[in-house]
Amino acid sequence: MCKTPGNPNRVVLPTNVKPSHYTLTITPDLKEYTFRGYVEIDIDIHEATKTIQINTKELTLVYGRVDIGEATYEAIETTFDEDRETTTLTFDSELPKGTAVLNINYTGILNDKMAGFYRSSYKDADGNAKIMGVTQFEATEARRAFPCWDEPSAKATFSIKLVVPTELDALSNMPVEEITMVEPEEKTVHFQKTPIMSTYLIAWAVGEFEYVESVTTKLENPVTCRVYTLPGLKEQGRFAVEITPKILEYFSEIFGTAYPLPKLDQIAVPDFDMGAMENWGLVTYRTVALLFDEKTSDLRFKEQVASTVAHELAHQWFGNLVTMEWWDHLWLNEGFATWVGTLAVDHLFPEWDTWPTFIVADVQRGIALDSLRSSHPIEVPVNDPHEIHQIFDAISYSKGASVIRMLSNWLTVDVFLAGIRRYLKKHEYSNATTDDLWAALSEESKIDVSEFMKTWTRVIGLPVLDVTEADGVVSVEQHRYLSTNDVKAEDDETIWWVPLGVHPKPASIADPNQTLKTRSLKFEVPEGPYIFNKNYGGVFRTNYPPAAIARIGKAVSEGSDLVNLSDRAGLVADISSLAKSGHTATKNFLDLVQYYKNEDTYVVWELLAQRVGEISAIFADNERVHQGMLHFQRNLVDSMVQKLGWEFPEGENYLTSRLRNVILRTAGRAGHEATVAEAKRRFAIFVSDPAQESILHPSIRQTAFEIVLSRGGEEELRHVLKYFHEAPKQDQQVVALLALGHVRQPELIAEVHSLAISESVRPQDILYVLNGLSSNPKARIPTWEFVKANWEMFAERYKSSMGLLGSCVKFPLTQVSDAALIKEVNEFFADKDTKNFQRALDQAIEGLTVNSAWVSREQEGLGEWLTANKY
Ligand code: BES
Ligand code: ZN
Repeated sequence: MCKTPGNPNRVVLPTNVKPSHYTLTITPDLKEYTFRGYVEIDIDIHEATKTIQINTKELTLVYGRVDIGEATYEAIETTFDEDRETTTLTFDSELPKGTAVLNINYTGILNDKMAGFYRSSYKDADGNAKIMGVTQFEATEARRAFPCWDEPSAKATFSIKLVVPTELDALSNMPVEEITMVEPEEKTVHFQKTPIMSTYLIAWAVGEFEYVESVTTKLENPVTCRVYTLPGLKEQGRFAVEITPKILEYFSEIFGTAYPLPKLDQIAVPDFDMGAMENWGLVTYRTVALLFDEKTSDLRFKEQVASTVAHELAHQWFGNLVTMEWWDHLWLNEGFATWVGTLAVDHLFPEWDTWPTFIVADVQRGIALDSLRSSHPIEVPVNDPHEIHQIFDAISYSKGASVIRMLSNWLTVDVFLAGIRRYLKKHEYSNATTDDLWAALSEESKIDVSEFMKTWTRVIGLPVLDVTEADGVVSVEQHRYLSTNDVKAEDDETIWWVPLGVHPKPASIADPNQTLKTRSLKFEVPEGPYIFNKNYGGVFRTNYPPAAIARIGKAVSEGSDLVNLSDRAGLVADISSLAKSGHTATKNFLDLVQYYKNEDTYVVWELLAQRVGEISAIFADNERVHQGMLHFQRNLVDSMVQKLGWEFPEGENYLTSRLRNVILRTAGRAGHEATVAEAKRRFAIFVSDPAQESILHPSIRQTAFEIVLSRGGEEELRHVLKYFHEAPKQDQQVVALLALGHVRQPELIAEVHSLAISESVRPQDILYVLNGLSSNPKARIPTWEFVKANWEMFAERYKSSMGLLGSCVKFPLTQVSDAALIKEVNEFFADKDTKNFQRALDQAIEGLTVNSAWVSREQEGLGEWLTANKY
């Protein structure tokens, strides 16, 4: 395991010279798409040297000079190493030990790759093309904007100046200190000096902006919070700007340290590679992750905004104040921010069922990926920062957050947070490792935390508990869980520490934490039904025998206290996954579903719809099973369709609105006649009369579009495209893009493909289109063909992206079950450079294997079950 700072395999700069302060002046040219830069870096030379190595990327150095007191040393040679992204400055005499100032004058490119200092384009209210400039530096792109020691441990302070046209706004991490005029039409904006921090958290933005503002009320030093937008959009920042001070106050309290900067700006950027970025004091977002309009937005964006804001604000402490020592520990940053962000959203919106949602979303996402051989341990050595693309995934985020939740349950949330406070205090304005966190938690709890966490973070995979009952005894045995269900002895060597969470607790289990530390355990069969993994607090699957499933199912249908919302959701998640992997028969899952007739929560329905829908999607080539499963789904949702209808009553609670959407979407996909007819009727009114726009509430619009596109043709596509092109808001465009992929006719599918890579769709938004296409049985294979045919273009377009290229490969293949495709995919990539998305590719192929095995194993049995149950 790579934990030592001195790991010889890491691609790092020599340590003979260290920076302490940067004075950086950037002059963008927004017409030529270039910028000039001048940086003065205060350095400490630890050993006399003739060379200085520094990170740069796509920068052209004009000159480099070192000043030591009165003496100056011009660099006589600068050599660029493209692979290591470094420039070496060579001097003709030795630079003595001590402090010095390194001056570099250079130029760079204001690129359109969403990395480094880049430009983002948009149209103003009059339709004129405009651009703004903004930065994205994590993980290693600060070097595209200024020569620097671009490593998280090389912390320094920064004084930033931007030289920009007078009429533009300029923002950076810190508040403006002063503005000086260069010429009547040009000004220099000087920002206050930052605290000591890492380069990847530096940010600035230049453009025409407006903002809404709020101020914290509970902090000793009030913090001004602004949400910046392009002109005309600021009102959509209201929701974010209202919750921001509350979240800052909440984190200041639970982290035991107030937010340390005087201001916090957040800005919506029209082109953005990911969801958001936690730059200290200037957080950047994809527009739909920050802006929300109560009147026109689909309600689900509200939750997305809240959770994204909470996540990024969590990083202001966990990541920014205390920073990972090296990229190996990215999981700690991201897993923790995901967990504590959820804690904050639950605190602010207790009516949203945030934790149960976390169980069906994050926990399942993490487990699903970790059930593949192509997964990786949470803690994984990242020697070359370029490998970071590969760990920007559901293991670092979702499994990471899930094991943190498990640990916080194990220690109790109060003790856990006390440990976090200890950790933050000890390492503030510095760097730390995963082991440092375990040490702080161990000191606080007096329990050896690393002993508990070892198997969860250092070992690949997770366990399944095989439960059997015989002669009044329950036996549980843990084994590695693989979706391919082909565990070999060498895969199965780990004994996890599993918090069993058996409820009601059997008398023979004395440990209050019920931690299974051995391969197996036995206890007496309890009187009535019992469950494992209470509240779904642990990260494992439970494989109950059919009799036990039936008993718990009965408890579900009777509304028993034994099974709360999290338990009901967890049961569906486990049994459906175990069916897919072949640990249990798929009919056991379908039998279980029948017990959920009285279910009325959004969270459980979302999962039920997903898992039942997955069967019809993956078995799409078997007409008998496919049709039978659609029938099963129509039957499943029928009474809910009638109960919920299409109208959104004024003041209805959030979860009911979400529930209506899942039910109608499921009904529509399954061809529920009344639902399809109503969707068509409302759509016809919606497109013919703008005054009746409210006939399709924003929260149901995507579903209605999807239904009419999948059951209609050319004409419906024209209307949805028109909606897309004319939609004034980015979230409305997203809604249309997500629906477009549902067209069924080959020529319309081809048209959607062309649209996806046209000028009309921002490169960041391709995933929305692929998402619809991948869940459309008629479109998956053509979409894979489309990706292949345009591969060079995709590879070039997304070469700097964190994950988009991998997703372009993975998405079209997720629900395909044709084993022959495996060979084809392998052959296609055989002569291509796959290093930036190798994991995504392996995962796609393994997913195909799992799907095709499921179909061959179960198609007969499922057909029989459907016939016997009259579907
Ligand atoms: N720090 C990340 C973004 C990031 C990670 C950039 C790794 C470069 C390398 C940011 O905090 C983040 O996690 N963003 C998420 C959204 C969040 C709500 C989960 C994203 O962009 O998907
Ligand atoms: Zn994050």
